[in-house]
Amino acid sequence: MPKFEKHIFICGNQRPSGHPRGCCDPNAKAELQKLFKQKLAERGLKAKVRANQSGCLDQCEHGPNLVVYPEAVWYGRVTLADVDEIIDSHIIGGKPVERLMLPDSCINTPACEHKPRRTPAQEA
Ligand code: FES
Ligand SMILES: [Zn+2]
Repeated sequence: MPKFEKHIFICGNQRPSGHPRGCCDPNAKAELQKLFKQKLAERGLKAKVRANQSGCLDQCEHGPNLVVYPEAVWYGRVTLADVDEIIDSHIIGGKPVERLMLPDSCINTPACEHKPRRTPAQEA
């Protein structure tokens, strides 16, 4: 079996409504992950690209989030309507969808323009 060439990790985490950080999949339906899986299969990419549901990616304030490896491109505020473009432009065409990319200044930082100051109790 050849190895997968790319992995798409799609956050499917839930938090109680009203949580200050929000969450990526409040309805627990994994709709984004399921749609990626379906559309990849339709394009014959099932054996090359894997769309995995993930736990919290710690970018909650920018969600719904996903990250594509091996290139480590992060996307935020992704909707079902964006799935075709991400697959066709980025996964197939090699050109990331810039309008959805999270800037480096937002990733793995305790504070950015989208994140309120957190207390330790809010980290969970
Ligand atoms: S809930 Fe999705 S990144 Fe945290
Ligand atoms: Zn941000």
